[in-house]
Amino acid sequence: MRVCVVGAGYVGLVTAAVLADGGHQVRVVETDRKRLAALRQGQAPFSEPDLDGILARNQAARRLDYAGTLQEEGEPFDVIIIAVGTPAGPDGHTDLAAFWQVAAALAALPPGERVVAVKSTVPVGTGDRLEAYLLDQAGHASWYVASNPEFLRQGSAVWDTLQANRLVIGTSEDKAAVALTALYSCLARPVLLMDRRSAELMKYAANAFLAMKISFSNEIANLCDLVGADISMVTLGLAMDPRIGGAFLGAGIGFGGSCLPKDLRSLAAAGRDLGYRMELVEATMKVNEHQRLLLAWRAERLLEGLMGKEVAVWGLTYKPGTDDVRGAPALDMLAYFVDSGARVRAYDPALQARQEVAGLFPAVRVVNDMYQAVDGAQALMVLTEWEAFVQADWHRILSLMACPVVLDGRNCLDSRVLEAAGFCYLGVGRGRPAPDVVSGRQEMTGMALLQAVAGVRSGGH
Ligand code: UGA
Repeated sequence: MRVCVVGAGYVGLVTAAVLADGGHQVRVVETDRKRLAALRQGQAPFSEPDLDGILARNQAARRLDYAGTLQEEGEPFDVIIIAVGTPAGPDGHTDLAAFWQVAAALAALPPGERVVAVKSTVPVGTGDRLEAYLLDQAGHASWYVASNPEFLRQGSAVWDTLQANRLVIGTSEDKAAVALTALYSCLARPVLLMDRRSAELMKYAANAFLAMKISFSNEIANLCDLVGADISMVTLGLAMDPRIGGAFLGAGIGFGGSCLPKDLRSLAAAGRDLGYRMELVEATMKVNEHQRLLLAWRAERLLEGLMGKEVAVWGLTYKPGTDDVRGAPALDMLAYFVDSGARVRAYDPALQARQEVAGLFPAVRVVNDMYQAVDGAQALMVLTEWEAFVQADWHRILSLMACPVVLDGRNCLDSRVLEAAGFCYLGVGRGRPAPDVVSGRQEMTGMALLQAVAGVRSGGH
């Protein structure tokens, strides 16, 4: 089939690559000129496992090409997929500016039968509005608009697309259902047909539910710290109940990225507009906001203030396997440290992330080596569970740090190994006597805790 994908972000480019690989003739439309030029030279604008190879072989086979505008030469496209970004506006409502620009370009196409699949995450009812607009502007009576939400994750986008657990197609029109089912038949994945509004809402519900699981786990983890229980054991028990499931119960400094936070805000805003308060969604966001700074407050207590203190931060991206720092908890943490007068050295394995953070925080010293970051530090904050951090040489780190304090924001380190090496280790919900910022109660704080840790070296390096 002849397919046009508008928008070369994670969703658009990965979808285009996989569909071309499945034998379709795919055109990617990207209006950003720099991005377009790079794509034409075979460079993806972001790093994503396996993507470069698929793009290269399909470009070479002439099944995939790139254009700067939405135009048809000769035969019309059978399917046009809209995959442009729909970021959050200042009040939480979705910013649909890019989406409506695409709509205007669609309206300018000549008449003919086409299916428009909306992959961008858009508020419920946007598909209805697009269809009405196309009919109104250009009399495109034989255009069928379907919702076709995407569930891929950054860092495993190609795998998630090839192994999709469901392909949701939201339309009441047989022509659209038949065309999109045919389009995706190359993937041989389960197809779920539903009406357009349900499909649009399903996408938000999926991200909100995942976020809710994370916030729930974080809330229980905070209680673990108060009662001396271990969240990893609690979630292990939860996971063995198939009604609950173990995925997305990882406690830590909360969720970030460009999707979960914005989709929750958009859902809450949609509810508010209709006079309905989405209590669970709002509580999920509130828990997450608190969680993002929890570890910074703990470091502050432990070090008895942050002014002039040397803090090392490992992990700047919102999760491992990506170079994306959008919505990363690390950004909130860095802002807090800088505002509190700490001297911060930061490191991330992703060069792009280091460069972005250096631009965003001139007061933070971004370094190119993880051991350089901890040299002389009084506390090390681990904010992304990159494998390099898990496999770090802790004896070397112990010899470099001025104070052997490690705060593990992803519960990714082995507390026994660190404690045996002589570190004061604090995770989230690991049942340690943490300086308590959850309820205001204090158990063991500041230097008292440090002194309780074997091998502590106070003072300078
Ligand atoms: C998310 C969804 O998982 C995808 O299904 C969806 O398609 C995508 O948003 C989207 O709407 O485009 P993504 O943002 O790439 O994907 O990342 P996730 O793997 O979901 O992680 C999001 C955040 O949650 C990260 O900061 C991660 O560290 C955090 N997280 C995840 C936890 O704190 N605990 C967990 O157990 C899992």
